[in-house]
Amino acid sequence: MIDLYRPLELPVPFLKKSFDKTKYANARHKHLDRSDISDLYYSFIENLDLRLNHAEVFFSLPNIYYPIHRDQHNLIDFPKINFVYGGDNSKMNWYKIKEGREGISSYTNINTAFVQYELNDVDLIFSQEIKSPSLVQAGVPHNVTSPTLRWSVSTVYTTKNNKLLSWNEICSIFNDYSFYTKL
Ligand SMILES: [Fe+2]
Repeated sequence: MIDLYRPLELPVPFLKKSFDKTKYANARHKHLDRSDISDLYYSFIENLDLRLNHAEVFFSLPNIYYPIHRDQHNLIDFPKINFVYGGDNSKMNWYKIKEGREGISSYTNINTAFVQYELNDVDLIFSQEIKSPSLVQAGVPHNVTSPTLRWSVSTVYTTKNNKLLSWNEICSIFNDYSFYTKL
């Protein structure tokens, strides 16, 4: 079973009604302004004993090839919750690294770590249109293809003691809000 993606139904809105995605349309990658997040969402994650560790916005132009990468240098289990705005018919693709191939470690313009892979160093294993919101495994090489403008707000959580969560841990915490078993 490939377990890289779980759609979620959350009981609260993530962003405030006043959220203006156009302010994130002048760069590929920006930190999310934390004041864009609804108070209800902060209360929701507080009640789950979680802390929002990181929130960023990836803005994708239509039909651009964005490089295959995995987030982080040393982690291969790095779950995120992504909220997607626009991006109709977009796909998130996950890949297996071919034997003996290594990516190139680097940092984004907002100083987040990633390892980039060439297309011929990996094999596609799973491709999925991402409904918003979703748990996604960002520790496995991935990229997104989209025929439309797409904003993906990507969020990372820790425990109250600032411990990053594994995929299994976060899936368990969000189990009541996941409809994965219905797929
Ligand atoms: Fe990523």
